[in-house]
Formats: sequence, structure tokens, C-alpha cells
Amino acid sequence: MERVKIVVTGGAGFIGSHAVVELYEAGYQPIIIDDFSNSKESVLRGIQDILGVEIPSHNIDCGDESALREVFSKEKDIQGIIHFAAFKAVGESLQKPLAYYQNNVGSLMTLLKVMPDFGIENFVFSSSCTVYGIPDQLPVTEQTPTKPATSPYGNTKKMCEDILTDVAKATTSLHTILLRYFNPIGAHPSAKIGELPLGVPQNLVPFITQTAAGMREKLTIYGDTYDTPDGTNIRDYIYVVDLAKAHVVAVQRLLDRKGEAVETFNVGTGRGNSVLEVVHAFEKATGVKLNYTIGPPRTGDVPAIYADVTKATNELGFKTTSSLEEALASAWKWQQTLANSQ
Ligand code: UD1
Repeated sequence: MERVKIVVTGGAGFIGSHAVVELYEAGYQPIIIDDFSNSKESVLRGIQDILGVEIPSHNIDCGDESALREVFSKEKDIQGIIHFAAFKAVGESLQKPLAYYQNNVGSLMTLLKVMPDFGIENFVFSSSCTVYGIPDQLPVTEQTPTKPATSPYGNTKKMCEDILTDVAKATTSLHTILLRYFNPIGAHPSAKIGELPLGVPQNLVPFITQTAAGMREKLTIYGDTYDTPDGTNIRDYIYVVDLAKAHVVAVQRLLDRKGEAVETFNVGTGRGNSVLEVVHAFEKATGVKLNYTIGPPRTGDVPAIYADVTKATNELGFKTTSSLEEALASAWKWQQTLANSQ
């Protein structure tokens, strides 16, 4: 039987590459679109090593309308799009807001404009728990009110959700699932793909693994006087392979026309862990002692957020398979593989 074709924008990125693998293993034909502005072409080799086949890939910017049209014409019969491609550095977005609006909002609008001409109706969007701002109550459900974003990056996620909702209201030919990710961590168990931060990592786990590998002198924990049990920030760290699998289920749900035209799901574990807990879990999982210090809070950080995942569990049958320690062990295995390959 022919595989159902799903375009994965940002398919060479951290979450995108894991989703490509899970889609293929579930019987779909992923087609990657990536401009490699924040990823490396070597990721494609990692995917191929895991799957034993080459996944079609197009090096284009998905804000480039004519390039997009060319890819869609060439590939034919695309049944859905998972849209990961976006800039994601919160701090950078404060310095370069226009680049963030142009890239994140612009590429969504281009995709939505082009899709109907090719009969593509199904769309999964990479959203973020950042839309909840600093929530009044924890855990956050999908009904928790969204709050004004604290960064242009966060604002683009909220704006894209609103654009998708408005477009779906105005047409019968858009069916979309908004997945609000919490904090994805870890790497594929094969250690052939994982997170590949270019430059100094902004996110916690790659900073931890690089410090443990001796590439960074020490981790700075951004503040320990928050109103949390140990004073450090609380997040919901989800294993990236579990998160990738949520996309496969979301795509199938869209193809089956099971839900409303627009549906929103939190994708997390339902568990909150502090930064110190992550550090200790890493040490326990790997046996490596981590050099760290406490620094001042980072501007824009939310003190605590974690997901209520009842909706994703009930409606998507979503389950997480890996503990925090297992996910951290996979990140460490990936870091060691990277170090050996350089
Ligand atoms: C943020 C956004 C998220 C976005 C992600 C993309 C929020 C709530 N979350 O995640 O939507 O998708 O960026 O990059 O805005 N930390 C340290 N030291 C470090 C690095 C991080 O202590 O060197 C701490 C942070 O203060 C935070 C936690 O680790 O408490 C996680 O940080 P990070 O991995 O950057 O993710 P978020 O800021 O939660």
C-alpha cells in the first residue's frame, strides 16, 4: 500500500527529526522541508541510518511561496503538514522581533495560502506552553486562559494559533491540531539524532550535557529564590520521542476527521521538575558529577509551569514512556556520540 505523504517543515530540527522517524515507522511517508538555518544536513544521514531509507528532503524556506508551490507540485498527493519550522530562541526574539514575526508568522501564512491550491487540509502546529504566560493555577489545562506573551517568540506562537483558528472558521477545508509542547528533552535511543544546538545552548539539557562533557566550565542555574519548593524553576520535561509520537496520533486523527476543525492539546508529562531536580536526576542517571553554580534569574522566565495531560490522554491516547532519568540518559548518550564523531 502506498504511504500517506506528510510534509514535515523543520524536519531536520530537534523535534522535527524525531517526528520524521516516528511517522515513517508508523507507515507514513514524511517529506522534509527545511532551510537548515538552525539545523545541519548531517541530521538527514542520522534519519537514514535509523530507518534504512532516504527520506525526501527539500532545502527551501517555507516562507518562499514559489519554492513551496514547486515542492508541492513535484511531490503530489500530500495529505497533511506538520509545521515545526520556526525560530525558537526567546532571548534572541527580544533582539530581533521582526525576524521572528517574519519567519514564524510569515511562513505559517504562506503555507495556509498555498495549501488549498494543492488540496491539503490537515495541519498540525507546533505551539508552546509559553502561551499560558505565568499561569495563575497549576497544572495548566487547555482551558487555562492564555496570557500576553513575554517575548516576541511567545507572541508568534499565540498569533499563529489565532491565525489557524480564524482561518478554520472561515473555511471547511482546514482541519488543525495545535500541540502545546512543554519542555522536550533527550534523543533517539539509537543516538543517531538528537538536539544539535548551534553555538552556546540556551536550553537547560544541552547545556547540562555539554558541561558534563567538559565543553562548558559550569552550568549556571538561573535563580534559586523562586516560590517553589527548592527555589528553582519548575518545568514539565517530556522525552522528545514521546512528543514525536503525539504528532503521529494527531495526523491520524486529522485524517480520520475525528475531532473538531481546531483542537488544542497540551503535550507534556503532567509532572513538574525543578532545575535542581533535573541536575540531580542527570547525575543519578549518568554517574557524572555536574559542576554548577547559582546565578541571577533569567529575564522572562516563568517560575513554574507543568501540564495537565488529561485531554491528550483521553482523546489522543497519549502516553509517555520514559522517566526523566531515562530521557536524560538518552541526551547524555547522544552527547557522547557527538563528541566521538568530531
Ligand atoms: C522556553 C519557552 C518555551 C520555548 C523554549 C524554546 C517558556 C515558559 N518556555 O522554554 O516555550 O519553546 O524556551 O527554547 O517561555 N536554565 C538554567 N540554566 C541554563 C538554561 C536554562 O537554569 O543554562 C533553566 C531556565 O531558567 C528554566 C529551565 O532551565 O527554568 C528550562 O529552560 P529552557 O531549557 O531554556 O526552556 P524554557 O525557558 O522553559
